Amino acid sequence: MTIKPVFADATPLAHLPDDRAFLSDLIAGFAKPQKSLPAKYFYDAPGSDLFEAITRQPEYYPTRTELGILDAQGATIAATLPPGAALVEFGSGSTVKVRRLLRHLPGLGAYVPVDVSETFLRSEAAALQVDYPHLRVAPVAADFTRRFRLPADLGRARHAGFFPGSTIGNFEPAEAVRLLRLFGEILGDDATLIVGVDLVKDRAVLEAAYDDAAGVTAAFNLNLLARINRELSGTFDRDAFAHRAVFDASASRIEMHLVSRTDQTVTVAGRDFAFAAGETIHTENSYKYTVEGFRALAGEAGWSAVSVWTDAEALFSVHALRRG
Ligand code: SAH
Ligand code: AVI
Repeated sequence: MTIKPVFADATPLAHLPDDRAFLSDLIAGFAKPQKSLPAKYFYDAPGSDLFEAITRQPEYYPTRTELGILDAQGATIAATLPPGAALVEFGSGSTVKVRRLLRHLPGLGAYVPVDVSETFLRSEAAALQVDYPHLRVAPVAADFTRRFRLPADLGRARHAGFFPGSTIGNFEPAEAVRLLRLFGEILGDDATLIVGVDLVKDRAVLEAAYDDAAGVTAAFNLNLLARINRELSGTFDRDAFAHRAVFDASASRIEMHLVSRTDQTVTVAGRDFAFAAGETIHTENSYKYTVEGFRALAGEAGWSAVSVWTDAEALFSVHALRRG
C-alpha cells in the first residue's frame, strides 16, 4: 500500500506578523504610560522551546492537569465532535494535547494546526503526519487574532475547533469575546469548540507557576528582548531587566513584566526608548476564570455550553461549546 503524502509543505494562506508589524506594535506599546508588548511575540523558535520547557516545570500545573483531563475524558470529549469533522487547533504548539483526542477519532476528516511560530508548527505537523499517515494534516502559519482562511480543500466536512492550554487567558476579556466570535465565524454554523481554561486558585500556586525555581519562565520572558535585538536591531541588555510575575486578584489575572534594573536608554530600529529604574514592560496577562465566568464570556461570543470537565482539585477546566 502506498500512502499519499498529504502534508502541506507551504500554505499560501499565511498571515504572520512581519518585522514591520512587530516594530509598529513595539512603538505603540512603548508609547503608553505602562509600556507593553503583545504576548504573541514570545513565540519565535527559541520562545516555543522555552514554553515547552515551562510545561515540564513542577510549578507549572496547567499542562499536566489538562493532559490528565484529556486522558481521563478523551473518549467523551471526542464524542462531542461531529463524525468526520475537520479539526482546527488554534495555537497548536507541540500538538501533544490533540494526540490525546486523535486516539479516539479514527474517522477524523482533517487536522489543521494553526500557529504563529512557523518553524515549530511545521516540524510538529510533519512529526504528527508520520505518526498518523492516514490523517490529512494541513498546517496554517497564521496569527489567529486576524481573520484567516482555512485550506480550501477540506471538503464538505463540518469544522470543529480545539483551543487548549488556556491560551484564551492571554487575552483581555473583551478581546477574548472578540476572538471566540472570530473562531465561530471561521469554523461556521453548528461548530463545536473544545477550550481549555485555567481556573482561579490560591495566589501562591499561581505565582509559583509563573516564576518557577529553575528560572525557565524568567528566560521565556527575557527571550522577548533577545528577539527584539535580533529582529529589530535592538540594544537591550538582558541582564539589565528582571522577570516579575504577580497575581492581580481584582482582575483575576497573572501579570508578567520585565522590570528595568537601572535608568537606561535602549535603541530599537534607530529609535531611543528611556526606562527609569523600576519601570516595567507589561509582557503578558494570564486570566484565570471560574467555570461560570468562562461560560458567560463564551455566551457573549455566541457559544453555548455543552459540557465541562475538571480535575479532582478543580485546577483546570475543559469546555465543550456549540455555536448558537
Ligand atoms: N496548545 C499548546 C500550546 C500553548 S502555548 C498547549 O496547550 O500546550 C500558546 C501557543 O499559541 C504557542 O504555540 C504560540 O506560538 C501560539 N500562539 C500565541 N499567540 C498566537 C497567535 N496570535 N496566533 C497564532 N498562534 C499563537
Ligand atoms: C500559553 N499561555 C496560556 C501560557 C500561560 O500560562 O499563560 C503562557 C505562559 N506564560 C508564562 N508561562 C506560560
